[in-house]
Amino acid sequence: MSKYFGLITGAGGLIGIAHAEALLENNINIVITDVDKKKLNLVFTKLKKKFNKHQIIKYQLDLNNVQEIQDFFVNLNKQKIIIKYLINNACVDSKPDLKQKKLKNISDQWNLELNIGLRSIYLLIELFSQHMLKLKDGIIINMASDLSIIAPNQEIYKRQFPKFKKPATYSAIKHGVVGLTKYYASLYAHSNIRCNCISPSGVDNKQPKKFKNDLLKLIPLKRLSSLDDIKNVVNFLIDKKSSYMTGQNIVIDGGRTII
Ligand SMILES: NC(=O)c1ccc[n+]([C@@H]2O[C@H](COP(=O)([O-])OP(=O)(O)OC[C@H]3O[C@@H](n4cnc5c(N)ncnc54)[C@H](O)[C@@H]3O)[C@@H](O)[C@H]2O)c1
Repeated sequence: MSKYFGLITGAGGLIGIAHAEALLENNINIVITDVDKKKLNLVFTKLKKKFNKHQIIKYQLDLNNVQEIQDFFVNLNKQKIIIKYLINNACVDSKPDLKQKKLKNISDQWNLELNIGLRSIYLLIELFSQHMLKLKDGIIINMASDLSIIAPNQEIYKRQFPKFKKPATYSAIKHGVVGLTKYYASLYAHSNIRCNCISPSGVDNKQPKKFKNDLLKLIPLKRLSSLDDIKNVVNFLIDKKSSYMTGQNIVIDGGRTII
C-alpha cells in the first residue's frame, strides 16, 4: 500500500467513484470530499464494502468556501496525510433534466460556478503541490470535458428541453481547466509533478432516449462514454506508463470532437 494518499473532489457525484476505484485498485489510500454529505456517505459505504483493507477518509468540504479549503489542508497536515495524487473533479454542471436551484442574479451564478470549477482547482493545486514539491513527485488530474474543445450544441438540448441552454460558465470553466493544466504542468515539471486533464463526452447515465439518440448522431463510435472509459485513463495517468506525458488534454469522446 502506498503511504501517500489520493484526494478526490466532488467524489459523491457520478464520476467520483470511478476515480476512487482507480486509485484504490492501485493500492493508493484516498481522501474523498464533497459538499453533499449524503452523496459522500453513499459513495464511502460503497467503496468500503469493496475495499475494506484500504484507508478511505471522507471529508465534507464546500469548495465555494476558501477558508474551508484552507482548514481542510491544515487538518490533513495535522494528520500527516500526504497527498501525492490530486483529482480535481468537482464542478457545478447544469444538466437539463435536473431542477437546479437558480440563483438570484447571473453574477452570483458566474461566481459560484467559477469558484467551484476553476478557483478550487487553483487553490487545491497551490496548497497540495507543497506536498508534491517536497516529494519531488506528484500526479494532478483535472476534469475538463469535450466542451473544453467545442461549443455546446444548443440545438440538441433545445429539442428535448426547450427552456434549457447549456450555460456559458461551463464553457469558460472547461476551457480554463485546460489552461490551468498547462500552466501547472510547465511550472512543476522540474519536480516530476505531472498535470493532465481528461475530457470525456457525456457519460451514459439514463439520459432521455430522444436526447441520447440526437447525441449519438454526433459521435462516430455511436455510444456515450462510460465510467470505465474514465477509470482506464486515470489508471494510465497514475502509472509510470504515462511518465512522459504532462500538460495534455486527454479526450475520450468516441470521436465527437473530430467531425
Ligand atoms: N457526467 C458527464 O457526462 C461529464 C462529461 C464531461 C465532463 N464531466 C466533468 O466530470 C466531472 C464530474 O462530473 P459528474 O458527472 O460526476 O458530476 P456530478 O454533478 O455528478 O458530481 C459533481 C459533484 O460535485 C459536488 N459539488 C458541487 N458543488 C460543490 C461544492 N461547492 N463543493 C464541493 N463539491 C461540490 C456535487 O455535490 C457533486 O457530488 C465534472 O468536472 C464534470 O464537469 C462530466
